Amino acid sequence: IDEQLAYKEKIKALLKEKDAVLVAHYYTDPEIQALAEETGGFVGDSLEMAKFGNQHPAKTLVICGVRFMGESAKILTPEKRVLMPTLEAECSLDLGCPADKFTEFCDAHPDHTVVVYANTSAAVKARADWVVTSSIALEIVEHLDSEGKDIIWGPDRHLGSYIQKQTGAEMLLWQGECVVHDEFSSKALRDMKNLYPDAAILVHPESPASVVALADAVGSTSQLIKAAKTLPNKQLIVATDKGIFFKMQQMVPDKELIEAPTAGAGATCRSCAHCPWMAMNGLQAIEQGLREGGEQHEIFVDESLREKSLIPLNRMLDFAA
Ligand code: 13P
Ligand code: SF4
Repeated sequence: IDEQLAYKEKIKALLKEKDAVLVAHYYTDPEIQALAEETGGFVGDSLEMAKFGNQHPAKTLVICGVRFMGESAKILTPEKRVLMPTLEAECSLDLGCPADKFTEFCDAHPDHTVVVYANTSAAVKARADWVVTSSIALEIVEHLDSEGKDIIWGPDRHLGSYIQKQTGAEMLLWQGECVVHDEFSSKALRDMKNLYPDAAILVHPESPASVVALADAVGSTSQLIKAAKTLPNKQLIVATDKGIFFKMQQMVPDKELIEAPTAGAGATCRSCAHCPWMAMNGLQAIEQGLREGGEQHEIFVDESLREKSLIPLNRMLDFAA
């Protein structure tokens, strides 16, 4: 505990010294989210993180999350220094969608509009017409469908098929998945619902279709937190990374939050869904990144890739405005 406190104090001093601000995702550990808020930084979903970094005046952004979030920040604000606790914080969606293979897929269907999830590399974004996050994907695909566009979607097949079902749009799906959400099990969830018959089920759309089918609310991390407030149920079963419980519980202190079960864990699962890369964001790593910078921590994006990937990213931000 003393060590944690010491790191927090060092980070606070370094934030001032380097004119830096912490921008954290809901899946990072509670002490990081709390520190971001305490120091005038931000906690949010991936779209809100991009927006916050874009408009905040600090010279340095410390992105606590995974690498694509740091890259998006650098693409949007190249004049800022973008640091991360560790550049080894990857994402299975990004890793499962190499730019050369994805380009081949797109080139084979040149008449399709290419829509990619933010959870991708700058090179994949550079090949896209649109970038989306889970909080705005539905609206953007609805808009493209209303213009009669056929769509290539990558990389999350579960989110893609959810959007396809909701919109009826013509979509070719890349076959990627999030290792965390893919593990939720509809069978175990049904068993859990039997234990808590009055509970509402909240599901992130990176989960398999059979899990989404059981949901009372489906949405991005921020949308799930809103749903937790709006739904009348006193018990909520939540199918997303357990990091979200910190902010969600603050928003609904009187409600009981229950972690949805993953396949192996069964209906008594506790603490099973947590992204291994989000977990790499620790206080010590933040302090080191701020103090040392360097290639372990600082994000650089090739300028020609940056210019290309900025176009579909800005399209999303303009659409969201
Ligand atoms: P949100 O856009 O809902 O925050 O989810 C992004 C994500 O998968 C982060 O891991
Ligand atoms: Fe990627 Fe899933 Fe981790 Fe999010 S939770 S960073 S989608 S692997």
